[in-house]
Amino acid sequence: MDRVIIFDTTLRDGEQAAGGTLNIQEKLEIARQLEKLGVDVIEAGFPASSPGDFEAVNLISQEIKNSAICALTHANFKAVDRAWEAVKVAARPRIHIFLSASDIHIIHQLKKSRDEILKMACDNVARAKGYTSDIEFSPMDASRTEPAYLYQILEAVIDAGATTVNIPDTVGYAVPHEFGGLIEGIRANVPNIDKAVISIHCHNDLGLAVANSLEAIQRGARQAECTINGIGERAGNASLEEIVMAIRTRKDFFDLTTGIDTTQIYRTSRMVSDLTGFAVQANKAIVGANAFSHESGIHQDGVIKMPITYEIIDPRTVGVPSSSLVLGKLSGRHAFKQRLSELGYSLNDEDLNRAFAAFKELADKKKHITDRDIESLVAEEQRTLSEEYHLERIQVTCGDRGIPTAAVRLTDPKGTVLEDAALGTGPVDAVYQAINRLVKVPNSLTEFTVKSVTQGIDAIGEVLIRIESDGVSYTGRGADTDIIVSSAKAYINALNRLLAAGEIKTA
Ligand code: KIV
Ligand code: ZN
Repeated sequence: MDRVIIFDTTLRDGEQAAGGTLNIQEKLEIARQLEKLGVDVIEAGFPASSPGDFEAVNLISQEIKNSAICALTHANFKAVDRAWEAVKVAARPRIHIFLSASDIHIIHQLKKSRDEILKMACDNVARAKGYTSDIEFSPMDASRTEPAYLYQILEAVIDAGATTVNIPDTVGYAVPHEFGGLIEGIRANVPNIDKAVISIHCHNDLGLAVANSLEAIQRGARQAECTINGIGERAGNASLEEIVMAIRTRKDFFDLTTGIDTTQIYRTSRMVSDLTGFAVQANKAIVGANAFSHESGIHQDGVIKMPITYEIIDPRTVGVPSSSLVLGKLSGRHAFKQRLSELGYSLNDEDLNRAFAAFKELADKKKHITDRDIESLVAEEQRTLSEEYHLERIQVTCGDRGIPTAAVRLTDPKGTVLEDAALGTGPVDAVYQAINRLVKVPNSLTEFTVKSVTQGIDAIGEVLIRIESDGVSYTGRGADTDIIVSSAKAYINALNRLLAAGEIKTA
């Protein structure tokens, strides 16, 4: 096999990242984008873990046709049955069973014997096989499992019907040479290994998730489990975009391919960052803001003369939009629509009208409108689509004399106009206090960041916030040329997400 199967677990392991909760609509939106990206398998969630996860897996299974949809389950019949209930409508359903295999886990956590674990693994794979032919099994903590026992489990689950065996480096403990050796050991010592695909699932605790994955691929693994932007439990998972672009850029070395449409990478990365609220670090490989910017004079000189001198990837290959002027005040609807479609957006007429109106409003305030501005503007429009509470207007007075004061007008879920005013320690606090008087949901603000989308004094400012309620964290985003307005939008966005999660009823 010269093709590596890309198994995306952004919606499952990625969502396990602290503070990364997504609602069902957001999961569906990401799943649609993952399908466009061309991932082979989407791990959509863990149906037995919560009714929300069940519903999300089920909804994604109903809609997505080109990628296989995978439901994760622990090794008990009830959970396996629940996974199947959620995923059975998918065009290509997969059940993924995991069970700890290392002595560290089975002695200290599960308090079972190796034989008991072996039996549980086989019984549950056989149970799942009664539902579908596509079964994945993961011996959790495989990289700290005694190899001889690991080979024994893998042979047994393949006999019981597993078609993919996944080797998780659950705690990110492995180092590349050793992890690659484990894959070679599996190929040499599991007699029926030719009946299953070897997969790897690496965590990034030592910053080695991508390196371990690539070494394993080089030594025979043919499925890579990964997430967009590398988000995931603790330090995260191996990053999809880094694995895919390494395989593509170094085809001379790997001689392998993937089915990924790399021009969708940047867009997917932005969407996941927007919806989870996890900012992408500027120096992040492939998708970071600085990944293709050259500061040193020597490098700039080289790139101007011949890009290949210092650029190993053409930014267009991963769909990075240019930051040059694209549209202005006089641009019409047709030009705007055309640019949107070049950026990969296909909006229906109603959404297009809203986005165009927002574009015209922005063009009045900002002279040069770039692709990044357009992206930010469309994201802002899409955020407000499913809003319960909607920001109509705000007015703020502030300065180094007097007390910061904000007046806010909102519409509630029934369309009723609500207005109030409040004082605060600063303009953002005053706005938040005024909103609190209207949307009475107890919460605390735990994070607030603001950054500009492009350079220049008239740039759009994007605000990202996190609020916490009942121990659950919700992110909110807002974008506007006025950062106080962005802050208000971000807070309303976070409150809407909190309300949609149904955790708290308004007073
Ligand atoms: O890290 C891990 O071991 C997992 C398994 C469920 C595959 O996420
Ligand atoms: Zn994991």
